[in-house]
Amino acid sequence: MSESTAKLNADKHVEYIVNLGRAENTLSYHLTEHLRLNGIYWAITSLSLLGRIDALDRSAVIEYVGNCWNSSNGGFSSHPNHDTHILSTLSGIQILITLDAVEEAKIDTSKVVDYILQLRPSNQGFFTGDEWGESDTRFTYCAISTLSLLGALDRLDQVESGTSIKQKIVSWFTQCINFDGGFGNNIGAETHSGQVFTAVAALAIIDRLDIIHTDNLSWWLSERQVQNGGLNGRPQKQEDVCYSWWVLSALSILHRLHWINKDKLISFILSAQDPDCGGIADRPGDVSDVFHTLFGVAGLSMLGYPEIERVDPVYCMPVKTIERLGLKKSYTLL
Ligand code: FPP
Ligand code: ZN
Repeated sequence: MSESTAKLNADKHVEYIVNLGRAENTLSYHLTEHLRLNGIYWAITSLSLLGRIDALDRSAVIEYVGNCWNSSNGGFSSHPNHDTHILSTLSGIQILITLDAVEEAKIDTSKVVDYILQLRPSNQGFFTGDEWGESDTRFTYCAISTLSLLGALDRLDQVESGTSIKQKIVSWFTQCINFDGGFGNNIGAETHSGQVFTAVAALAIIDRLDIIHTDNLSWWLSERQVQNGGLNGRPQKQEDVCYSWWVLSALSILHRLHWINKDKLISFILSAQDPDCGGIADRPGDVSDVFHTLFGVAGLSMLGYPEIERVDPVYCMPVKTIERLGLKKSYTLL
């Protein structure tokens, strides 16, 4: 490892993120419109963890997010006038809550709650991403996280055909558990660390971690660490910085974060920084992007790397924000 990659280059990462917002005349900016609100969430959260949230123009962000809200159906789209989706709805709410700007943005949160609730097919224990009906563990996490952030988790206590929505969700997640203790994107789908995060974090929010086979799943998660210290998403796959989030957050919620070799993972994440342009890539030598920058910084935060604010492993938002909302769950950080 060279000297320049041996420590976190926070100033460069802040500069990299701020410059992304100035890239409006580039082709890649326009090709990523479908991810714009997610991108702003990744940027805001990275900056917040780096203690530099003021580096972005707060009122411009609030105005943009407000323009992504669809007052007819209550959801957020990734870009003004695009179709609404549960992924961008969670991102929109996360951004506004992190900036403490829900009221300022003039969003009717009861409409957002109703938008989320109607994305659950009747009698089912999962949520879809939009009206087209695709189901994926990710979407159920997004629904539960958004409802919780908006203080509307009690809506899951509603009883339908003799069973509460919450019980149906627990039953659905129970059916998703694989022989290795993990979760895929649906019942019977192969275990994938990203999906494991969504299931573990969703169950943490609704206080039903009891259905998880903790040691079995934690063993599978700790086996994701490869020779160079990085983590992969599944057996036989390449290591990738974003799994520093998906794997560590689940281990943190399961109180098994110490099952990972911390120093080797810190070295791997730092070696994926771009020393010239800033940002963190999926792995050393690749081009950096804001998604991997967030998950690299968030991974370092959970590992106790100095001068990074603490991230909440359940919501992937600053701990201080989640504490302000009174939503903190039990987990262990290093
Ligand atoms: C891996 O994706 C990650 C997942 C499948 C989980 C994604 C979860 C969400 C979008 C919910 C919101 C998340 C947060 C942090 C608030 P990938 O497509 O990169 O997987 P691959 O490595 O197999 O390609
Ligand atoms: Zn990745």
